[in-house]
Amino acid sequence: MKKIVIAIDGPAAAGKSTTAKLVAEKLNYLHIDTGAMYRALTYKILRDGIDPENEAAVVEALKDSKVDLKKEKNEIKVFLDDEDVSKYLRSAEVTNAVSAVSSYKQVREMMVELQRRISNEGGVVLEGRDIGTVVIPDADLKIFMIAGIETRAKRRQKELAEKGLMIDYNKIVNEIIERDNKDSKRKESPLRKADDAIVLDTSNLSIEEQVNFIVNKALEIIEN
Ligand code: DC
Repeated sequence: MKKIVIAIDGPAAAGKSTTAKLVAEKLNYLHIDTGAMYRALTYKILRDGIDPENEAAVVEALKDSKVDLKKEKNEIKVFLDDEDVSKYLRSAEVTNAVSAVSSYKQVREMMVELQRRISNEGGVVLEGRDIGTVVIPDADLKIFMIAGIETRAKRRQKELAEKGLMIDYNKIVNEIIERDNKDSKRKESPLRKADDAIVLDTSNLSIEEQVNFIVNKALEIIEN
């Protein structure tokens, strides 16, 4: 059976990770969370006491870094220089600094090369900001996931609460808006909908509905 490439892009907290993971499970595809790769590099920068706003220092520090995605059971774990760093990637510190680190040309070139390499045989669901525009512009199916800011902030608040973190709603709204601004306004591969991407507004959809929408589109392509 044909193994296609599915690109899912969109702003922060639009539900891309949950959806991409489930779509990949249903199709028995590999889920590639490209945001996690930029987060792993950001974790290293912060751990080593480097200023994320200092482009030259960041590029120098990351020059010889190795990011690997390894499949363990049904999960993809992110390894940085052979260490499993998955548990550090969602911290507030990493989330606040990742837009700066991921805005640098040389950092992006390293990650894009890796993302293309792991996708070259198809059978993958990649999620990020620039998959359909830059990483795999000829992806077989491109989805641009969006949701209203209230929906996104409430989902993020619930996700954090499940981890025991009680964060003020307005603070979450401001953080999401600020990150979207930085990701959309940067010079290198900004967050942008590809001309041929299908917009999927998940504001009023259940997870199951959004997963089924993408899986059905994928099956139409696979079976034709
Ligand atoms: O999807 P996420 O929140 O884990 O992504 C973290 C950050 O990484 C996001 O704010 C911008 C950056 N990113 C990117 O620049 N390009 C991608 N393909 C994925 C993420």
